[in-house]
Amino acid sequence: MPEKTIEQNIEQMNDKQLLEMESKYCSWGDTVHYAKQLNIFREAEGIYLYDTKGTEYLDLQMWYSAANFGYKNKRLNEALKKQIDTLPQLACQYLHEEKIKLAAKISQDIEKKFGVKGRVHFNVGGAQAIEDAIKVVRNHTGKIPMFAFMGGYHGRTLAATAITSSFRYREHYGHFSDRASFIPYPYRFRCTSAKNKGSCCDLSCLKSFEKLFESEYYSVVNPKNNNCEFGAFFVEPVQATGGYIVPPMNYFKELKKTLDKHHVLFVADEIQMGFYRTGKLWSIEHFDVVPDIIVFGKALTNGLNPISGIWAREELISPEVFPPGMTHSTFSSNPLGTACGLAVMDLIEDSNFDIDVPQKGAYFLKKLQTLQKKYPCIGNVDGLGLALRIEMCEKDGFTPNRALTDAIMNIGLRGELKAGGKKRGLVLDIGGYYKNVFTLAPSLYITEEEIDLAVMLFEEALQKALSNEKIL
Ligand SMILES: Cc1ncc(COP(=O)(O)O)c(C=O)c1O
Repeated sequence: MPEKTIEQNIEQMNDKQLLEMESKYCSWGDTVHYAKQLNIFREAEGIYLYDTKGTEYLDLQMWYSAANFGYKNKRLNEALKKQIDTLPQLACQYLHEEKIKLAAKISQDIEKKFGVKGRVHFNVGGAQAIEDAIKVVRNHTGKIPMFAFMGGYHGRTLAATAITSSFRYREHYGHFSDRASFIPYPYRFRCTSAKNKGSCCDLSCLKSFEKLFESEYYSVVNPKNNNCEFGAFFVEPVQATGGYIVPPMNYFKELKKTLDKHHVLFVADEIQMGFYRTGKLWSIEHFDVVPDIIVFGKALTNGLNPISGIWAREELISPEVFPPGMTHSTFSSNPLGTACGLAVMDLIEDSNFDIDVPQKGAYFLKKLQTLQKKYPCIGNVDGLGLALRIEMCEKDGFTPNRALTDAIMNIGLRGELKAGGKKRGLVLDIGGYYKNVFTLAPSLYITEEEIDLAVMLFEEALQKALSNEKIL
């Protein structure tokens, strides 16, 4: 009997059959079943996904900002194909050119921007790179406790979970003795100490943090010898899963002064906000501070053959203090990943993202602000570059409305919207402390026409959800 082609195998099953199989054989422990509406996608191009019926979905989340440079990006795909045909596999104990050049490009960029020398260590996923950052901090400071933010997300391996705020992610896995101390993030719209709902920022959360260092009885430092119990503060410069929250521009500069005084390292987690999501290569560049460690992943390879990594200041990662074997993973600097990463860095050098992304972001945000004026249930819109947020509320514009948010997302995934003259879907991601925030991360190549279309599709889904609200 002749062997079946892959196409024949796929074509033989329709969505219903595949979903039946999925319900029987796939673990539901990942995030697929967060949504009621389950789609099976078959193709991707630019900012669009296509399901098995060929319906087009405009994607406003781009694999949680891993595919910043668009699906099937020709130049990046070519780099991958070329590498497949030359050096597709290589154990990471041996060297290859792309790894060395990529580490150099990242280190040189950081040295130019922040004036600090350092080195790069690669790994595979974001959480694994976070683990490496934790190792570097522990090795350098000898300290296990860390500070991290409420609303922060750093991944789901055990050590990354320990510095991720959500208790839901920890509750089934026993006691986390290394659980971080979680500090309120400067979330203006829901400031815990604001006098006015939805507005104030007098940096009172920062003042409360600074106060912790005044007396040993506030539990973090011995003022007699200035020994702080905490090794580092893990920071998302723009909080990602927490709801694309942009902090006040002076916040991190002030925070860093306190950390420096007490020798607490500053780790910038750029896994979701790096690679021009906010209009700069690193989102921390907006805030006028020099980080000790930068962690990156996701869009480094545009979602192709994943790699991640950390950059650390020389004194934290030099061969004298971080010698061979300090950390390792089989696939850490795989050549397909490093080739894609290098192609991404080259593409960035040849692009105008510094100018384009803030311009497109401002255009998108203005459209969202106009929408907000029409609908009281849109409590807040904001953004930095093309990291944008829409916070859905009750009619009072403040009480979180998770049901409405879920309804809009599911309507988008049904693929039956009509804006723009043909049947389409809309792919949205939900984040936020109350799961009521759309975290928008479109392709950095999104055009003004596509932004207009995205806003029309969103409004149509919103109107449908509002008209159904009583039966939700
Ligand atoms: C800021 C941040 N850190 C860490 C991670 C974990 O990365 P990964 O899912 O690749 O392990 C994520 C993933 O969404 C993230 O957004």
